[in-house]
Amino acid sequence: MGAGLGRLWAKHGHHVMFSYSRTPEKLDKLVREIGAHARSGTPEDAVHFADVLLLAVPWEEIKDALSAAGALNGKTLISCVNPFGPRGLEVGLSTSAAEEISRLASDATVVEAFNTTFAGILHSRAHLFGSNMPTVFYCGDDRDAKRTAAELIRDAGLQPVDAGALENARYIEPLAMLMVELSQSHLMDSDIALRLMNPAGATELVKSGDVLARSFVGIFAGANGALAAEEVLAEDFVAYLPYSRYPVRGREKFEHWMKQFRSAFSDFECDIDELIDDGMRVAARWTWSGTHIGKLLGIAPTHRKIEFTETHLLRVSGGRIAEDHVSANLLELLAQLGAAQFAAA
Ligand SMILES: NC(=O)c1ccc[n+]([C@@H]2O[C@H](COP(=O)([O-])OP(=O)(O)OC[C@H]3O[C@@H](n4cnc5c(N)ncnc54)[C@H](OP(=O)(O)O)[C@@H]3O)[C@@H](O)[C@H]2O)c1
Repeated sequence: MGAGLGRLWAKHGHHVMFSYSRTPEKLDKLVREIGAHARSGTPEDAVHFADVLLLAVPWEEIKDALSAAGALNGKTLISCVNPFGPRGLEVGLSTSAAEEISRLASDATVVEAFNTTFAGILHSRAHLFGSNMPTVFYCGDDRDAKRTAAELIRDAGLQPVDAGALENARYIEPLAMLMVELSQSHLMDSDIALRLMNPAGATELVKSGDVLARSFVGIFAGANGALAAEEVLAEDFVAYLPYSRYPVRGREKFEHWMKQFRSAFSDFECDIDELIDDGMRVAARWTWSGTHIGKLLGIAPTHRKIEFTETHLLRVSGGRIAEDHVSANLLELLAQLGAAQFAAA
C-alpha cells in the first residue's frame, strides 16, 4: 500500500519518504525507480520529514511501527490498517483498528482511508476503471486532517467519500474484509473496487478529469452557465500558452488573460474535437472560432472569421486543473490573421 500510494503521490508532485521494512534495499530500489521526489529513511526520519504520515503496516506490527516512529507531534496520521488475523477481523463492532491506533498514537490526528482499496489497483494505476474512480471512504474526528486526506485521495486518482467520525471505521474495516473474501473465495481476483453511486449521476463528489476539461472549455469560451473558474482551476494554476513567451501563473491572472483574449473576437465559440482522460491527466484537442474585432498578438482587427485548433495537456490535482500545456500551430493562426510574412508559409 505504501509503495503504491507513495508512487502516485510523488507523480502528483508531493515529496515522499518511505520507511519501515525488514529489507531496506527494497525501499532504496523503490526510491531509485520513483526519482527525485522520493527518499527513504527511518520511521523517525519520516516523521521529521513529512507533514502527513501514512501508516500502512500489518495489524500485528502497529505497536512496533509506532514506537519506531517516536513522537508524532500532532501530525496527521492516515491509517489504512485493517485488523486482519488468521480468523478474520481481530477487532470490530465495539472498536476498530483506527480507534486503537488513535489510542496508541495519542499525539497524532488519525484519519482512516484506503482500507477497501487493493494495493494492486494502486500499482496498476487508479484509472484501471476509466473515469469511474474507485471510492475511498475516509473517516476521522478532525476537519482539517480529513480535508488533507481527501486531497491525497484525489491525488491518487480516487474518489473520496467522507464517512464521518473515526468511530465509523468500525463499518469500513468489515467492508475491507468483505473485499478480501470476494477476491479470495469467489475467484474474482483483486482487480475489483468499490464505487459509491447515487441517482441521476449527481454523485460526482469529485469532478473527473473529463468533467473538469469540459468545464474548462466552457470557461475559456465564456459560455453562459459554465462553472465558476474556482471550481475548475487550482488557485495556483499555470498555463503554458503558445500566445505568450512566459507562462501565465495564478487563476486570477489567467481569468484576466482569457477575458482579454476573448475580447479580440465577436461570436467566440469553442468545440471539443477529442478528449482522453487517464485519471490524472487529460489530453484535449479543441477548436475555437470567432470574428477578429480587436487587437490580437499585436495585429489590428481584420474582421475575418478565424478558426484555430489547440491541443491541451491538463494536469489534475486536488480535484482541480493545476496545469495546462498548450500546443498549437501559431504560424497558421498568424496566416489567418493576414500577417503577410506568414501567409505564404
Ligand atoms: N495490500 C492491500 O491490498 C491492502 C488494501 C487495503 C488495506 N491494507 C492494509 O494496509 C496495511 C499494509 O498492507 P500491505 O499489504 O501494504 O503490507 P505489507 O506489504 O505486508 O507491509 C507493509 C510494510 O510493513 C513492513 N513490515 C512488515 N512487517 C515488518 C516488521 N516486522 N518489521 C519491519 N517492517 C515490517 C513491510 O516491509 P518488508 O515486508 O519489506 O519487511 C512493508 O514495508 C495492512 O494493515 C493491510 O490490512 C492492505
